[in-house]
This record gives sequence, structure tokens and C-alpha cells, in this order.
Amino acid sequence: MNPSAPPATPAKNFLSILDLSCRDLSRLIDLAAQMKAERRLADQAATANALKGCHVAMLFEKPSLRTRSTFEIAIRELGGHALDLPAQFADGGREPLEDVARNLERWVTALVIRTYAHAKVTTFASAAPRLHVINALSDQEHPCQALADMLTLRERWGECDGRTIAYVGDGNNVATSLAHAAPRLGVSVNLASPSGYELPARVIEDATRGARKGARLRVFVDPREAVAGADAVYTDVWTSMGQEQEAAERRLAFRPFQVGSALMATAAPGAFFMHCLPARRGEEVTAEVFESPASVVFDQAENRLHTQKALLMLLLS
Ligand code: CP
Ligand code: NVA
Repeated sequence: MNPSAPPATPAKNFLSILDLSCRDLSRLIDLAAQMKAERRLADQAATANALKGCHVAMLFEKPSLRTRSTFEIAIRELGGHALDLPAQFADGGREPLEDVARNLERWVTALVIRTYAHAKVTTFASAAPRLHVINALSDQEHPCQALADMLTLRERWGECDGRTIAYVGDGNNVATSLAHAAPRLGVSVNLASPSGYELPARVIEDATRGARKGARLRVFVDPREAVAGADAVYTDVWTSMGQEQEAAERRLAFRPFQVGSALMATAAPGAFFMHCLPARRGEEVTAEVFESPASVVFDQAENRLHTQKALLMLLLS
């Protein structure tokens, strides 16, 4: 395989990891690794003008440091132009979302959108057949995060087959995309969430259907059972954006699911700690684990850039 060639059978949109075949997911990670290695070439890189003449609109209803910054840099490094739209255009108040989408597709090649409701992402995608829509986080999925997570694991492990990652915490958007992605690359996922906060059954079914090379999804009640012998331990905030009014009750429910040194000690020797960031030290992870040598959280953050460059190559170039 030549990773400098864009993956075959490009999808129009990237709303979910499930929009990519296993083969394209794997090739995208390979391409991202190559683009990471070639970043030092700057405007001499073979991809420096891949998006020349392309405008990409960015519409974010929620705060973002990593996703917004890395998309803007990715678009610029591929020779394209990022157009920052005010968040109000995602509320449908001034004009219907379908009309916003049908305007945008006349001017821009793609829309990168972060919303509260996943239905808005699908509305944009279906209303504008020529517009490439990229989900930059919805209440249900965070597929761009999972791409960076898979590159991080592949860098650390080389071949991923036969490895296990434990996800401890909320069965949320980040957990969904991780569960979609990891088994497709042969990585088993052990899940442990408090009662009432588990991944939806549909996510487990979709993730299991996509599993390759013997990877499995297993659901545990006790976080110690999920982490025992795992090669990496992943967690996310207990209260996601938009759930702030539930923070107090969530703190109570999630307390036994904090990732601390004692829990990490039950994982496999050399196991990594992962987090999409931002993290709340003292809630889902202790400061000790967050700052420990096992923590690869800033590798994950760095890899947002390289995987999103590869994604833009796949969808747009
Ligand atoms: N991990 C992540 O998506 O970070 P931001 O919310 O800062 O974009
Ligand atoms: N689950 C978190 C992820 C932030 C990147 C949220 O949705 O707020």
C-alpha cells in the first residue's frame, strides 16, 4: 500500500467513524503518520497545495481549543482557507438550517460543525448534497477525536491487533467514537460506566459488527475488572458540555470511576493513560495519573492536527 495516495472510496461526509470502511480508517491513520513525518517540509510538502482554492466553513456552537485550532491549521497547511461562522447560524433562528446549508454549498467545499444536537449535523449533510460535512463533536459522537486516538495507539504499539483499551466513565460522545474505531483496528474495548450512564446498546451493536481480527467489546460494572490487564486506560469528563445542570448528581454517580494510581496499577505493565481533554483533575482523573509518564494526552492532542489533515485529504482532495 502507498500511504501517500488518498484512501479509496472516499465518503462525502464524516459524521461518524462508521462512515469509513475499516480499510479506509486504517489507510487514513497511515496517511496521517506520513503527513506528521513530512510536516517539517512545510510548503515543500507534497500536500501543501492539496486544498488550493477550497474554502472550509467552521461553525461551532460550543467552546473548543483543540478541534478548532487544529482544523484551522490543517486547512491552512493544505493550502485552503478557513471561514469562521458565528455560532448563531447553527440555531436556526434567523433562517432554517437547511437554507444555511444550501447557501454554504454554493461558496465552500466543506463545513466543520460542532453542535449540541447530532440531528443538526445530519440536517446540514442531507440538505446540501455538494457540501462535505465533518462532525467536530455532537452530543452523540466525536469521530475526529477517535482518529487522533488511533494514531496515538498505533505510534505507541505499532501493530494494534490483540491489544485492549479500557474506557472508564461516561458512555458519551467520546466513548462512542472510541468504541466505533478501536475494534475496527483489532483493539478490544472494555467499558465500565455507572448505572444509567452506559453506552447505548445500538453503539455496542454497531461497534461489535465492525470489529476485526478477534477484537471484542465487553461491558463491566466494576472499573477494576475493566482495567485489569488492559494496555491503555481512557476516560473523559463526567459532565459534558450542555449537561452542566447535572454536574452535582454526576459527581456522586461517577466517584467510584475516577482513574487514580491504584486503578492504573491493575492495568498491564506500561499501560498508557488517555484523555481527549479538557480534563478535570480530581474528578475523572487524579493529577498524579494525568501528570504521570503513562499519560499520552498531549500526543493525542498533537495528533488531532495530523489525522484531520489526512481526513481533509480523504474527503476533499
Ligand atoms: N478534545 C477536544 O475536542 O477538545 P476541544 O473541545 O478543545 O476541541
Ligand atoms: N465529552 C466531552 C468532550 C469534549 C471534547 C463533551 O462533549 O463536552
